[in-house]
Amino acid sequence: MKRIAIFASGSGSNAEQICRRFLGRTDVQVSLILTNNPSAGVIQRARELHIPVVVFDRKLLYETGRIVELLLNEGVELVVLAGFMMLVPPNLINAFPDRILNIHPALLPSYGGKGMYGSHVHEAVVAAGEKQSGITIHYVNEEYDKGQFIFQASVDLSPGDTPEEVAQKVLVLEHEHYPRVVDEVITGLSDI
Ligand code: GRF
Repeated sequence: MKRIAIFASGSGSNAEQICRRFLGRTDVQVSLILTNNPSAGVIQRARELHIPVVVFDRKLLYETGRIVELLLNEGVELVVLAGFMMLVPPNLINAFPDRILNIHPALLPSYGGKGMYGSHVHEAVVAAGEKQSGITIHYVNEEYDKGQFIFQASVDLSPGDTPEEVAQKVLVLEHEHYPRVVDEVITGLSDI
């Protein structure tokens, strides 16, 4: 059984879609959901999916090795960031080389990097008059949004689209593709 841990800071709709992909599977399971936000919507979603939740704070993540220890003790083989708003610390990157995925709600390398998250991304895309936006699923390294790309998908924008409408179009792509890409990566992992 290959195990996935998901990190999320917000609503958790991507986390939920990924968990649902593996419900009933005997080869892969989401064994843990971790969040830095005690009021994140992902906590309720995890409860409904009967997946254990760990709530941590900056100190635990950046000043101790406890999160890495927990993941290793759980036998986690793939870490999935799904709306996780913190920079991944070096000890986590080093413990999971090319084993941490993230989804960015734009077509990187455009509209990426520090500060480019959530609505800021879609506001910038609209302000630039882009005709398309989309998603980028990538490996995570120590710089925001700089890891090797795994998958991109785009969606056409209409001239009058608001940032909220762009976000909605992009979220549809996220839910359509992230669970499948996570599945392809984890099932493609050589037996460690
Ligand atoms: C998504 O827009 C994702 O691209 C970004 O954060 C948002 C997460 O939404 N990383 P949710 O918490 O999965 O609903």
